[in-house]
Amino acid sequence: MTRLVELEANGPRKLEPEDIDDGKGDVAVCQCGLSDEFPFCDGSHRRTRDEDEETTYVYEDGERREVERVVTADETDE
Ligand code: FES
Repeated sequence: MTRLVELEANGPRKLEPEDIDDGKGDVAVCQCGLSDEFPFCDGSHRRTRDEDEETTYVYEDGERREVERVVTADETDE
């Protein structure tokens, strides 16, 4: 599985003590790229559980779609 994720941040986010979940005592950092609370996990990764290993997915406007191939701006100039 490949997932195309668009991120706009251009620098790090320093974690603060108040970022710790009082109930769990930890900080969960999102690795799937789908969280609305990025960089923190909000449970959105559950949407990826049925992704196929051989498929590329784009998540956009709350919808998931499968794509054959991702074309970058550099490739369109060729
Ligand atoms: S890992 Fe991304 S929302 Fe949980």
